[in-house]
Amino acid sequence: MRNILVTGGAGFIGSHLVRLLVNKYPDYRIVNLDALTYAGNLENLRDVEGMPNYTFVKGDICDYELVTRLFREYDINGVIHLAAESHVDRSITDPFTFARTNVLGTLTLLQAAKEYWKQPSDAPRRFYHVSTDEVYGALEAAGTFFTEETRYDPHSPYSASKASSDHFVRAFHDTYGLPTVISNCSNNYGPYQFPEKLIPLFINNIRLGKKLPVYGKGENVRDWLYVEDHARAIDLIFHEGKDGDTYNIGGFNEWKNIDLITVLVTAVDCLLGNPEGHSMDLITFVTDRPGHDARYAIDASKLQDELGWEPSLQFEEGLIKTVQWYLDNQEWMDRVTSGDYMEYYNNMYNNR
Ligand SMILES: NC(=O)c1ccc[n+]([C@@H]2O[C@H](COP(=O)([O-])OP(=O)(O)OC[C@H]3O[C@@H](n4cnc5c(N)ncnc54)[C@H](O)[C@@H]3O)[C@@H](O)[C@H]2O)c1
Repeated sequence: MRNILVTGGAGFIGSHLVRLLVNKYPDYRIVNLDALTYAGNLENLRDVEGMPNYTFVKGDICDYELVTRLFREYDINGVIHLAAESHVDRSITDPFTFARTNVLGTLTLLQAAKEYWKQPSDAPRRFYHVSTDEVYGALEAAGTFFTEETRYDPHSPYSASKASSDHFVRAFHDTYGLPTVISNCSNNYGPYQFPEKLIPLFINNIRLGKKLPVYGKGENVRDWLYVEDHARAIDLIFHEGKDGDTYNIGGFNEWKNIDLITVLVTAVDCLLGNPEGHSMDLITFVTDRPGHDARYAIDASKLQDELGWEPSLQFEEGLIKTVQWYLDNQEWMDRVTSGDYMEYYNNMYNNR
């Protein structure tokens, strides 16, 4: 029996992971702890909310009493930790919130796991920390990649807070023998992403005929991975990764922002039935983000060679699927952009 505490399960990647785990492992108990910040949306999980092996708890990962109570109450033997503040632009205006959630929140969970797991048990135990490739900093030269050995060199308050949390996870492994594992993944895209991030923001703006703000000249390069492939990788690493190890996850799929935006605009126009090139004029170059990393590129060959994972979707296929999802789910998008999504579930949990 595995009793897994997933944190941040109402967010973008977390909701895909919760859906995968709840459906794939009917004999596991999945406890989703999420504070429902602006980025948490239980509407992402409507299809699993009534499943008998799923429990939602509204709460803050920095609340040590709550976290230790959940360990005891559900006899937690696995943690998959995704809860975080995740948007770089917000970290530039409000770095303290990022330090609190991403660093202190991670430390709170580590300490609770360490204390609860002192008592002997036959169940396998694992603390899985989900992190980002942004901790490695920026790559300049084409043909170079981040490996698991790349030195940490974070540049934004977001990546600095994630780097710090990664260090705490390793420290708990090395100091207390906590059975930890970490993965560092590239940019995700797919359904249910909060529309402050590039792909859903731009799909929605094209639909509404609004401007598409591109940082600098759009020269920055990112590697993109379909979110369900990330969730599959987490499932695999959680079950088969080595204690104390780190795995890079990436799509083998680098795009210069402006090229990706051009393909995206073409795809949205095509699916909306607009003439080719119709929305290209919406592209607007704006002042670059401070500290904007030039290029990220992940070498995911360790995960591929050791655990046999690879992305299931070609980027073009994943992008069309994603655009189609947002166009088919305009009500979801409208409820997020209007703020209505917060009302129903927040009222329900606040009144308890
Ligand atoms: N999105 C990406 O492209 C990407 C890539 C690599 C790694 N990651 C990492 O994956 C994880 C999930 O990213 P995402 O894009 O799904 O994020 P997200 O912003 O969509 O979701 C974060 C979730 O965490 C919850 N949360 C925030 N603060 C909390 C707190 N104090 N207590 C409990 N819950 C809290 C939010 O309510 C939300 O549901 C993060 O750790 C992020 O660093 C993201």
